[in-house]
Amino acid sequence: MTQVSHTTNPRVFYMLQGRKKVLLTQDASPEYSVYGEQKVEADSHIFRTWDPYRSKLASSILEGLPSIPIREEDTVLYLGAANGTTASHISDIVGSSGVVYCVEFSPVPFGDLIRLAEHRTNIFPILADARDPVQYSFMVGGVDVLYCDLAQPSQCEIVLSNAARFLRSGGHLLQAIKASSIDSSLPPSQVYETAVSELSRGFAIRSTIPLDRYQKKHIMVWGVYAP
Ligand SMILES: C[S@@+](CC[C@H](N)C(=O)[O-])C[C@H]1O[C@@H](n2cnc3c(N)ncnc32)[C@H](O)[C@@H]1O
Repeated sequence: MTQVSHTTNPRVFYMLQGRKKVLLTQDASPEYSVYGEQKVEADSHIFRTWDPYRSKLASSILEGLPSIPIREEDTVLYLGAANGTTASHISDIVGSSGVVYCVEFSPVPFGDLIRLAEHRTNIFPILADARDPVQYSFMVGGVDVLYCDLAQPSQCEIVLSNAARFLRSGGHLLQAIKASSIDSSLPPSQVYETAVSELSRGFAIRSTIPLDRYQKKHIMVWGVYAP
């Protein structure tokens, strides 16, 4: 019998495999596998394993993100959703009364997002460039959480402009930063410091989590919007 426990977030779970913690979310779409994740049955529910090598949000949680600031019924704007790997777990967390707007500008992963949305009613794929939030402002209202994983040199500016348009005051930012996507000529610590200082123009930074164990030269930044 598999034993499943809560993390600090009531919508994020884990099980132990030996001494290893395996993250899980409760599967909103048990008939569909998004990226080959395992399904686990426990306590009359189906859970999905959440791979920290495939999702920077999962690796941040395992690396000690002090809180997981995404709650049931939240509205989330996700910039750089790619094929929907992480977005699908966020979809599990926010549940059927929540919403995940998934912005992606590349048509190939966008096709996967469309397929994902066919299985999950709370996923709304948006084919658009996150540098120009006006493109999707007709569709997105106020959001509780801004999640960004763009690998763009101007990603902090993009986050600030999307926050100004969509994020409620006191809403949360989770931003995955890959040092080399901003400046590969500088030491990662310097890139992170500059990025965090830029984000501080709009956010009270709560923590920065190094993700190197799972994603080399990446951090996750958690901030609270304080415009
Ligand atoms: C590192 S991948 C994201 C992986 C994804 N967050 C996950 O965990 O499953 C970055 C994605 O951002 C997209 N992207 C980069 N710049 C963008 C922009 N300006 N607007 C929209 N999407 C962008 C890329 O096409 C790519 O799919």
